[in-house]
Amino acid sequence: MPKYIPEPFRIKMVESIHLIDRKEREAALKRAGYNVFGLRSDEVYIDLMTDSGTGAMSDKQWSAMMHGDEAYAGARSFFRLKEVIDEIFAFKHFVPVHQGRAAENILIEAMQMRPGQLVPSNMHFDTTEGNIRARGGIPNNLIIQQAYDPKAILDFKGDMDIDALKAWIEKKGPENIPFGMITITNNAGGGQPVSMANLKAVSKVYRSYKIPFFIDACRYAENAYFIKLREPGYADKTPLEIAKEIFSLADGATMSAKKDGLVNMGGFLAMNDDDLFTRARAALIMREGFPTYGGLSGRDLDAMAVGLKEALREDYLAYRLGQAEYLAGRLRDSGIPIIEPPGAHAIYMDAARLLPHLAREQLPGQALSAALYLEGGIRAVEIGAVAFGQLVNGKWDFPALELVRMAIPRRVYTQSHLDYAADVLAEIKTTASKLKGMKMTYAPELLRHFTAKFEVLN
Ligand code: F0G
Repeated sequence: MPKYIPEPFRIKMVESIHLIDRKEREAALKRAGYNVFGLRSDEVYIDLMTDSGTGAMSDKQWSAMMHGDEAYAGARSFFRLKEVIDEIFAFKHFVPVHQGRAAENILIEAMQMRPGQLVPSNMHFDTTEGNIRARGGIPNNLIIQQAYDPKAILDFKGDMDIDALKAWIEKKGPENIPFGMITITNNAGGGQPVSMANLKAVSKVYRSYKIPFFIDACRYAENAYFIKLREPGYADKTPLEIAKEIFSLADGATMSAKKDGLVNMGGFLAMNDDDLFTRARAALIMREGFPTYGGLSGRDLDAMAVGLKEALREDYLAYRLGQAEYLAGRLRDSGIPIIEPPGAHAIYMDAARLLPHLAREQLPGQALSAALYLEGGIRAVEIGAVAFGQLVNGKWDFPALELVRMAIPRRVYTQSHLDYAADVLAEIKTTASKLKGMKMTYAPELLRHFTAKFEVLN
């Protein structure tokens, strides 16, 4: 039995959840077109759709909100946030934004990216990719090859392929690369961490070509803790010390504080370059708000200031990584194939291997996501053909993996909730060979998985 680290908190406010009965779940799923994005949250028992903005704030965050200063310009809340961001990230400038994708949008605008220009990363998240493409740019993923093998056990499976990066920059020409990125942890590749050694090497390559280096920092605290646990020389450092070292290697960062900022809404864009900051500030005023609030209330800035520090606490991070490891262990025990090793924020199940009787056209990921809801009221999201496959004239071009992600909201669910999810999956596994495939009956042109509709194949 995998070990579970007790929650480093006690609960002083609760939110009721309720498992509606199977008939109601059947009706809800049918109404939603077998797409869990169409469910009302009341119809869901355990919601593992995302770890973004779904965390629980602490008593200290809630009380900090009472100090929120709602002044349009120069609010005290901004300066409290600035103190924390300066301490952890230590970039020369930052602007608050309402969430991560807004930081991406402002960065790309301020970088004055031209159509046809390229932006490398280990793996871009889909909003980053979308923001680059929306301005005519081309996102490129240059992660190590083992990242594509779900069974390969590596300490730092989010690392970038340094030789490939160098060769690729030489081939494309550094003048065509307005900036380079890396995502920590790598959400699109299973939530895998990046090592400090790799971050140093990436920084060196980008700097040798004078390419500004930006970190997608959403889950930087979790990544810092993986470095502490796994990388030689870091065992005695605090997550804060490790985080400082990470950001000292870069020229800026985009941050969705909905993850390791422990808030429900918020983020920021940070950078060292003065001219870039001037342009970012101008873009921000147009799209988000004045530079000392950036689309957020003063109280939100205060909650973020406290949350950023709480997410770096070692007892919290040990519990956080422990939760994912525990759930992964329970799934392994019942023979559910997952991306190994697990990251910190989610478990990614390999639906194609769990349901080998279904062809890729029969959308095994979608079928598993529907089964999880039907059997247990659990909401988890397909990341396979529906989310990332290309469909041209009825012919699929499938992504490498057919996954279903169970993301773990921060400080929200306890061991018994995870046990419940593991039990439901063990049950699904015993009758997996009878699970029916799915057919897509409606698909929008863009961002298909949010609103597509399906039917069960008979
Ligand atoms: N970068 C990464 C690595 C992310 O995981 C996300 C969001 C973003 C950027 C965008 O941030 O949502 O605040 O605009 N990921 C969420 C998820 C949506 O469910 O994985 P945002």
